[in-house]
Amino acid sequence: MAASFPNVLVFVVVFFFSSRAQQPYINNAQLNCYATNASSALGYSCNGLRPSCQSFLTFRAESPYLSPPLIAFLLSADTANISRINSVPDVATLPAGELLIVPVPCFCSGQFYQHNASYTLKSAGENYFTVANDTYQGLSACQALIDQNHFDSRHLKSGDQIVVPLRCACPTLNQTSAGVRYLLSYLVTWGDDIPTIANRFNADYPSVLAANNLTAKSTIFPFTTLLIPLTTEPTRISSAPSPPPDVSQPSGAGGSSNKWVFAGVGIGAGVLILLGFPSLFFCLWRRRRRRQIQRKKGKLVSSSEDYGGLPFKSSSTPSMTTPSPLASSVIRELLDSMTLTLYKFDELKRATGNFDEDHRIRGSVFRGIFNGDAAAVKRLKGDVSNEINILKQISHSNVIKLSGFCLHEGNTYMVYEFADLGSLSDWLHHKKNIFGDSSTSLTWKQRIQIACDVADGLNYLHNYTNPPYIHKNLKSNNILLSRDFRAKVANFGLARPVEEEEGGSRQLTRHVVGTQGYMSPEYLEHGLITPKLDVFAFGVLLLELLSGKEASFAKEEERREVLLWAAIDDILSGEDVINKLRRFIDHRLGDDYPFELAFAMAELAKRCVARDPAARPNMMEVLVSLSAICNSTLDWEPGDLSNSSPGSTICARLFSPLGS
Ligand SMILES: *[C@@H]1O[C@H](CO)[C@@H](O)[C@H](O)[C@H]1NC(C)=O
Ligand SMILES: *[C@@H]1O[C@H](CO)[C@@H](O)[C@H](O)[C@H]1NC(C)=O
Ligand SMILES: *[C@@H]1O[C@H](CO)[C@@H](O)[C@H](O)[C@H]1NC(C)=O
Ligand SMILES: *[C@@H]1O[C@H](CO)[C@@H](O)[C@H](O)[C@H]1NC(C)=O
Ligand SMILES: *[C@@H]1O[C@H](CO)[C@@H](O)[C@H](O)[C@H]1NC(C)=O
Ligand SMILES: *[C@@H]1O[C@H](CO)[C@@H](O)[C@H](O)[C@H]1NC(C)=O
Repeated sequence: MAASFPNVLVFVVVFFFSSRAQQPYINNAQLNCYATNASSALGYSCNGLRPSCQSFLTFRAESPYLSPPLIAFLLSADTANISRINSVPDVATLPAGELLIVPVPCFCSGQFYQHNASYTLKSAGENYFTVANDTYQGLSACQALIDQNHFDSRHLKSGDQIVVPLRCACPTLNQTSAGVRYLLSYLVTWGDDIPTIANRFNADYPSVLAANNLTAKSTIFPFTTLLIPLTTEPTRISSAPSPPPDVSQPSGAGGSSNKWVFAGVGIGAGVLILLGFPSLFFCLWRRRRRRQIQRKKGKLVSSSEDYGGLPFKSSSTPSMTTPSPLASSVIRELLDSMTLTLYKFDELKRATGNFDEDHRIRGSVFRGIFNGDAAAVKRLKGDVSNEINILKQISHSNVIKLSGFCLHEGNTYMVYEFADLGSLSDWLHHKKNIFGDSSTSLTWKQRIQIACDVADGLNYLHNYTNPPYIHKNLKSNNILLSRDFRAKVANFGLARPVEEEEGGSRQLTRHVVGTQGYMSPEYLEHGLITPKLDVFAFGVLLLELLSGKEASFAKEEERREVLLWAAIDDILSGEDVINKLRRFIDHRLGDDYPFELAFAMAELAKRCVARDPAARPNMMEVLVSLSAICNSTLDWEPGDLSNSSPGSTICARLFSPLGS
């Protein structure tokens, strides 16, 4: 690495010299972490007029920090402010090398001005030098890191969280009286010279020299900061990324121009020991426990609009105007907790065969293969932080797992655990399920198991997450089936936390969204949001499982839409209940179901879809009732028309993974 540094220094004489020194230039002192205690490497001293001020940093977009939220995350800055000042959309993926201005507050912290960022070491190869130079591009220096962190610089390990004091400063009295309002910490790169830098920011060349205690003869070095005094807020820098250093032909060597050429110097042995490569933890793929199953040729076939997701208008043109899908605070939290993987877009392209039609499951959902494991990749627009925030903290076998995501050109790509058998609605309502065949339907046992699974997942959401959540969009489209027909609740796009009813205040919305046939009367009519709304939808789901009918369907003879939930009252009351119910139950089951249990399930469903929310059971009660049905079903064998007596074994799974 050191060899790549040209050991050439070129000096160019310019005529101006200012004695109004403000902050000494670091002058490559940062290269030698131990052999010097130049205070210039520790930070800019607190010699300004004020102890704190607005300041600006620069940062060059570099993988993986290619979008404003990620850069904001790294620098403890604000995404919206970065977007605004650089006139780039929040979600833009920037070309590597693009220079961004990053507004940050600057504080006097003891002797030095600084803006604190925090960084968690990702790999064993990282050390104070690589963090300061490679990751932070020179916005900090190893001396400052050593000074302000208690971790022994020689025994750093991944997971250590360090303070990264970023080099900023506030204008001195002299500068302020000259009209300077801000100081910008510019990151010098290959090929830079002070006149050009000054020009770029409309700064006065002598004032830049003075601000850094430089003379016209001085040399500046890449990966160091240069203070630029500004009289107004900086604006977008329209600049092409700098060309790589041309070692053989240092421009300005002839002395005929005022170009400055910069080169590194030899590196002390101490630094060489410290060199390492920060590896990108982002690429780590959380290993799945399950191996990919080899499925026979045959794609998922479905006519349904969505795959546990909101319908997405398929569009290949990336939007540059969409609002931020993720707040930087969310990303920060996610990356810190490292529960989710941040994928690179290239990885997704590779996994999905470049989003090939063959990989399309439906709509904007693609099947991807990551290290041999299948996953569902879903493209979303708009704000998806809600769903990410919820799913990242949920770990339950009956809730679909989010393994990571990727931000790319205004879209968020979510990577979920793969549900091999598609959605429940495919199996219940559509002509073809994934086997391309309509004669196969779900057996009674499978239906009961699915009901129990969904109840388990919902009960977990309502009672065991912190905060508890209401799913708000429960429907058979959003229930996905694993290859052993176990159900997983998906699509948390509309989910929201349960708010405590304090002093009788109730959670209301004017923005009623949902699917016809699943929305409870109090939600439709008054926008009232309580967990009972999910209980209602769950009741509809039970009726779907029983009847094989859709939540709202056209009744041929009456030529009108019928809501499934509205039908159950009639069926279970009046004369001839038994025959009415038999006719209601999915004919594809034939006689292969225990009638008494079906009856019990219908009764439970009826209670769940009661008009009055207070009359509905809560999810815990539903789960208990269902567990009895599930339990009896386990004892029942197809063909066994006499109903079995309830056994004593408990559906073991039902009570297992409560809590986290
Ligand atoms: C401020 O400027 C005055 C003259 O303009 C100079 O004498 C003084 O040394 C300067 N102070 C600093 C801290 O640069
Ligand atoms: C500024 O640089 C000169 C040498 O060029 C040095 O003597 C002086 O101490 C420096 N001032 C500060 C404040 O570092
Ligand atoms: C660095 O500072 C220490 C005390 O803080 C001092 O003993 C040492 O001589 C200094 N080294 C250099 C090279 O200035
Ligand atoms: C964003 O910038 C505004 C004005 O420049 C500032 O007041 C605000 O504090 C900044 N926000 C954050 C989170 O830094
Ligand atoms: C920045 O970090 C340093 C070292 O941990 C701490 O002393 C200082 O108070 C922090 N400053 C701010 C503004 O948080
Ligand atoms: C500092 O970081 C840059 C960019 O990662 C790298 O090219 C350069 O070699 C590093 N400097 C040293 C001395 O390692």
